[in-house]
Amino acid sequence: MNFLALILCAYLVLVLVQALRFLKKKASTSPSNLPPGPPPLPVIGNLLELGDLPHKSLAKLARTYGPIIKLQLGHVTTIVVSSPAIAREILQTHDAIFSNRTIPDSITALRQDELGLPWLPVSPLWRNLRKICNLHIFSHKKLESDQHIRHKKVQELVGYIKRSLSTGDAIDIGEVAFKTVVNLLSKTMLSEDLADPSDLFVAGTDTTLSTLEWSLSELLHSLEKLSRAQAELNRVIGKGKPIEESEIARMPYLQAIIKETLRMHPPVPLYLPRKSGLEIEIGGFTVPKGAQVLVNVWAIGRDPSIWKDPDVFVPERFLGSEIDVKGQDFELAPFGAGRRICPGLPLALRILHWMLGSLINSFNWELEGGVKPEDMCMDEKFGITLQRAQPLRVIPKPV
Ligand code: HEM
Repeated sequence: MNFLALILCAYLVLVLVQALRFLKKKASTSPSNLPPGPPPLPVIGNLLELGDLPHKSLAKLARTYGPIIKLQLGHVTTIVVSSPAIAREILQTHDAIFSNRTIPDSITALRQDELGLPWLPVSPLWRNLRKICNLHIFSHKKLESDQHIRHKKVQELVGYIKRSLSTGDAIDIGEVAFKTVVNLLSKTMLSEDLADPSDLFVAGTDTTLSTLEWSLSELLHSLEKLSRAQAELNRVIGKGKPIEESEIARMPYLQAIIKETLRMHPPVPLYLPRKSGLEIEIGGFTVPKGAQVLVNVWAIGRDPSIWKDPDVFVPERFLGSEIDVKGQDFELAPFGAGRRICPGLPLALRILHWMLGSLINSFNWELEGGVKPEDMCMDEKFGITLQRAQPLRVIPKPV
């Protein structure tokens, strides 16, 4: 063995001894009665368990270990919650203890944690920003008063698609709707179009767009649901006529479609990470102080003990049901809950109903390349939001 190899061996032994000392110290200070979970590997812990679709991998682990599990993601102790009852404990009963977030390095690297509302700790600055959102940007009064602006933007989208009817070409719904969604958000928040969107809008844009794309995809995947939605629009609005926001309340099936889409395809499947401010007992287990807490809203939406046929798109399940997405019903809470609930919820819901309603009341749709509804690719891609793996490409036809 040469000198260099000897030095390397000595170094590795030193690292191993230090790692063992660290683990021993950690074990002696770690609380007992931690939630169950798969055994971690040294250094990387359970990172490899996450795979390409972490929400699905974590749902699978929950089936083995239960609704509250502990993972070691590198050096971050992580608790993953997959049941409405435990989500309620975290987001409602102990909201104050879990109201701050763990902040990913990708966010601190761009210094978004210093001013971005989603990452600010609960503080006077955060409270002021939330107050501005609730009173001046997303309040019922404000959203009522500027609906004429959104009306104009949606009609511009309909006009753009109408002009493309003659070509018979397919359009990419995400691409075509992107500008409308960005402008709908910026018109509401800044009273102007935003040619070059800045996160502030990215979070709101990606989540709203992905939900819109999934809702139309699911309707094209089950054409009888599309016909039922169009029949409701025809009855309430009249075929091809523009929709007024106030008329959405008279369309329970359209509302049920958006709820069902958010159940099956929540755009933020693991919420934004919360951090435990104290060591506390949750669901009969100890959650250590400082642990990262993820709520797997996707797993809750697909749990067969809560939903009949959870993988089938059935908006009818919400007709006559009291369940809503506004943070009170933990079996369907795609916008989060408690003090950090999504402040954009009232605007997002208006935009979603209005845009989807307008797209299906003004046009019929065919899949590009003669693809049959039953052959559509419905795969997901995990990213900032849960997107379709393939963009939705469709040919508009006159109604
Ligand atoms: C379908 C649309 C949307 C969904 C499903 C959604 C979902 C969420 C979720 C799950 C959270 C984390 C909640 C928690 O930790 O409990 C969140 C936070 C947030 N959302 Fe949304 N969102 C949507 C649209 C929007 C829009 C349109 C905006 C603004 C224009 C927006 C702005 C925010 C902000 C600023 C936060 C951070 C709030 C805080 O930490 O205090 N979102 N959203």
